[in-house]
Amino acid sequence: MANDIFSNIDGLPTENIQMLADRLDTRSQMPGFAKMRDDYFGLMNLRPNARILELGAGTGVIGRAYAKREGFSGCYVVSDLSRSLIKYAEKKASEEGVADRMEFKVANAMTGQGIGEEQYDAVILHTILSHVPDPDGVLRTAVSATTNGGIIAVFDADYEGLVIASGDEDLDSTVMSAVQQTACAQPRVMRKVPSLAVALDLRREHFVPTLLAEAGESEFFMGLAQAVCNVVIAQGGLHRETGEAWLAALKTAVANRSFFGMCPYFTYVYRKA
Ligand SMILES: C[S@@+](CC[C@H](N)C(=O)[O-])C[C@H]1O[C@@H](n2cnc3c(N)ncnc32)[C@H](O)[C@@H]1O
Repeated sequence: MANDIFSNIDGLPTENIQMLADRLDTRSQMPGFAKMRDDYFGLMNLRPNARILELGAGTGVIGRAYAKREGFSGCYVVSDLSRSLIKYAEKKASEEGVADRMEFKVANAMTGQGIGEEQYDAVILHTILSHVPDPDGVLRTAVSATTNGGIIAVFDADYEGLVIASGDEDLDSTVMSAVQQTACAQPRVMRKVPSLAVALDLRREHFVPTLLAEAGESEFFMGLAQAVCNVVIAQGGLHRETGEAWLAALKTAVANRSFFGMCPYFTYVYRKA
């Protein structure tokens, strides 16, 4: 099993927790990312008063977006292993005026501990499967927390397909392998979702592949590079000088418009029989 910075966020230094929380929040509000989320919100086709559970919900940024949808009168439950992120999520929900449509739980998505007995109209797994040692356990938790006929939405990247290119190929490959070792436990998990779902008797309703890419200028991938590189350095997965040289090379690539970044993302929407 590879290490993963998201497997024990509460064990990170406070400044790294804050940086990751801010990054998660900013990422999901970027237009390309927000569109993928809004597209599957629509595909889930839930009633206005639906009760929804997200496993590994982090700062609750996906839940706040759902709670702001026109006419939503149900409840979006934000659950995560990290107590620090749940606190951040509660504060943000109050600041943004959606706390009355949300609940918050510290819970383990792999074992179901802390989730409770309720069955939900929908369970969302948004960029959690690639960060856990036992993705099958997370899907099993999702199935038992979903009502018969309910929806399970799974969204994540194939991180083996992630490219962030400064133009210095040796440096890019050193950093990308350090990032994959330290920041992603399951870089290929989205290729396994169909077989995991078949074994759980889930009926697939939608499959949406999307390639997010930037050439020349960069907003999304530069932000990702900065956030992840700093944490990988702090975790000891990369020498500081190498990481800093890479970030400097990426800035130069953006300045001279030679930057390239891409990552494939996938959405699966399933129905529990
Ligand atoms: C990449 S973040 C995604 C957060 C959120 N879904 C989003 O898209 O902003 C992965 C999240 O999974 C959480 N996580 C990791 N292992 C977990 C587990 N076993 N149970 C619940 N949450 C877990 C981490 O604390 C982190 O918040």
